[in-house]
Amino acid sequence: MVNYKVADENLAGKGKEAIYIAESRMPVSAITIRERFAKERPLEGITIAGCLHITKETANLARTLKAGGADVWLCGSNPLSTQDDVAAAMVKEGINTFAWHGNTDEEFYWCIRECLKAKPNILIDDGADMIVTAHKEFPELITDGVIIGCQEETTTGVKRFRAMDAAGDLKVPLFPVNDARCKNQFDNELGTGQGIVAAIYGMHVLFAGKNVVIAGYGHCSSGMALRARGLGANVTVTEIDPIKALQAKFAGFNVMPIETALPYADIILTATGCKHVILPTKENFDALKDGVILGNLGHFDIEIPTKEIYEYAKEIKPIRSDVEEITFPDGKRIYLLAKGRLANLVLSEGHPAEVMDMSFGLQSLMSEYIVKNKDSLKPGMVEVPVEIDDRVGFLKLQAMGIEIDKLNEEQYNYIHGYEQGT
Ligand SMILES: NC(=O)c1ccc[n+]([C@@H]2O[C@H](COP(=O)([O-])OP(=O)(O)OC[C@H]3O[C@@H](n4cnc5c(N)ncnc54)[C@H](O)[C@@H]3O)[C@@H](O)[C@H]2O)c1
Repeated sequence: MVNYKVADENLAGKGKEAIYIAESRMPVSAITIRERFAKERPLEGITIAGCLHITKETANLARTLKAGGADVWLCGSNPLSTQDDVAAAMVKEGINTFAWHGNTDEEFYWCIRECLKAKPNILIDDGADMIVTAHKEFPELITDGVIIGCQEETTTGVKRFRAMDAAGDLKVPLFPVNDARCKNQFDNELGTGQGIVAAIYGMHVLFAGKNVVIAGYGHCSSGMALRARGLGANVTVTEIDPIKALQAKFAGFNVMPIETALPYADIILTATGCKHVILPTKENFDALKDGVILGNLGHFDIEIPTKEIYEYAKEIKPIRSDVEEITFPDGKRIYLLAKGRLANLVLSEGHPAEVMDMSFGLQSLMSEYIVKNKDSLKPGMVEVPVEIDDRVGFLKLQAMGIEIDKLNEEQYNYIHGYEQGT
């Protein structure tokens, strides 16, 4: 029996097509690992709950975990990122699914609780909401040893768990999959960079010649800056980290405080994981240019002060799907993407399948690793083993038909030794 609550089961046909097209571009997670899992069934008897963006790529992760023998329960990790056709198709694939686009905060947590009621052994989170809810509301899953290990998919979630661990409050073994090289160097950089371009292209807005302000020069934001420049934009970066700011400057970007940049910006994009990157002051709102586009790609909707912008607005008018024209008291109009939520996931289809292939290759192999090592795992943060990161990298290269060099004995000894000098 499949348990579910989705928007419309009749959308399953469309969702199924999208899932199968994505599968063909996910050779690591949806083909190689899935085929092995189907033979070896390493997840037999294991229940896995995921709080993830419900996209066609996530559906393929769920299918791989199921092929490995797991009973899979999924809910959305953001109220606006669920693709309803994919959610409907997942139900038909035998995945317990609780997700629909536009759910309220209360419904969002209801979906998480439905998954936790299934007594999952492994939790895969994107933003920490499911694992934090397990700690607060389902402590017996931890004290009774039901949960054997957890994984976190995004930077914001990892930061929350590092804080929880430092406070002594993290009671489960937690693997920050986001921090693996095969994840954040591809998914965050390439996925977010291309995703925001797709979202803004969807509005038929030209990048070339625009003043684009990017808050942050981390994994996601540097990817966005590079792609905006590639399309001919004049890009300004804002940062709080001196080294990141220098990297941006030496990469050829303008660097300045956000309040200096605001009056010139045609497009402002945030991906910092920080709150109120644009401080919610009347001066800042008044400084914005007429027609400016505001988009956030950080995990939560707190980087752009959405609530305060809505309060300041004279009029809010949806002008196309997930874009609002907001008129301020002085008649100026700004265009807010996705109510300040992850614009790449809401306005376009999220990260391309090619990059999610690596993230979900890691999630699949880490699920297997957790099961194999469950008796030795201790509560707290545990880094993803480098061998698993490398294995995903090699599988991806293999699928792309790319060979690389191997160290011979002499080279190995040289780079691991200290005797040889001038
Ligand atoms: N939209 C997506 O699909 C997607 C994908 C991956 C990650 N994320 C989210 O994007 C956010 C950033 O992730 P990341 O991996 O790039 O993190 P990161 O740590 O690599 O980069 C964040 C950067 O922002 C800078 N920063 C912090 N506060 C700032 C401020 N007030 N003003 C200017 N710069 C500031 C930091 O110094 C850092 O360089 C997180 O919330 C993460 O969860 C979103």
